[in-house]
Amino acid sequence: MKALVVGAAAGGGLPQWNCAAPNSASYWQGAPIHPPQTQSSLAVSANGEDWLLINASPDLRSQIIARPQLHPRTGGALRNSPIAAVLLTNGDLDHIAGLLTLREKEPFTLFATESILGVLAANPVFDALDPAVVTRSPLHLGTRYELLPGLSVTLYAVPGKVPLFMEKGEVVTDLVGEQTVGLAISDGRATLHYIPGCASVDDTLRARVEGAEALLFDGTLFTDDEMQRAGVGTKTGKRMGHMSVSGPDGSIAAWAGTPVTRRVFVHLNNTNPLWRDGPERAEAEAAGWEIGHDGMELTL
Ligand code: MLT
Ligand code: MN
Repeated sequence: MKALVVGAAAGGGLPQWNCAAPNSASYWQGAPIHPPQTQSSLAVSANGEDWLLINASPDLRSQIIARPQLHPRTGGALRNSPIAAVLLTNGDLDHIAGLLTLREKEPFTLFATESILGVLAANPVFDALDPAVVTRSPLHLGTRYELLPGLSVTLYAVPGKVPLFMEKGEVVTDLVGEQTVGLAISDGRATLHYIPGCASVDDTLRARVEGAEALLFDGTLFTDDEMQRAGVGTKTGKRMGHMSVSGPDGSIAAWAGTPVTRRVFVHLNNTNPLWRDGPERAEAEAAGWEIGHDGMELTL
């Protein structure tokens, strides 16, 4: 199985268009800390030919152009794409806005929970995906589906919240249901867990992931109040439904005792110090974590 990190950054990307905090500022100053990173997406394939795109980011067109694995094949049919299906893990804009990039009458199946498909159904702009060619197919939690030949996926609930653009009144940030899911992806030999958004980790989740060949996990913020301290916002990671990387409640600690062959942070916010060399990255790497980046390919 191959897994391709199509976009390693959280919503906004790196740099973010309206941000002059240190990581983003390095680009505007002409001394980038890191190659630019696009918004959250993963592609997986069991045969290297047919790809399941997981989450469709606002950067999708440039992401396809940047990755030969996702280019149309030439020399045959004039309209084609190796993206055979799309699967969504939540309804946030960084995971659904790219669907609008896929509106050119190419057949594919769009998989998600009923709840996430409901978000799309409530927004008529997504009717741009012609239902005659793009089939929307609801998936149940806890059922193993063969979504592409040789590639099976099981969805499970992880704590999270409704999409930001649907928040009303008091927001529950650790809802467990159909609005935020993790994925167990398998080709029958290796298993990869993809969890780009998660508010907390419990023993049930640890038991599910234990022994996997790879865990790609929510690395949005290094510290919960990182955006406040950077002076770019008022929200904590908790308020956004993302557990942070560091500290006693963080993901490094939460996964420390769980055997997994490779552990990779993805969905990193542009304020995250993991993007640059320093003690934070050293801490994550010493704990066995890799920092995801656009174009990272895992062969499992
Ligand atoms: C998140 O991961 O918290 C969301 O992508 C936020 C957003 O919609 O920008
Ligand atoms: Mn996001």
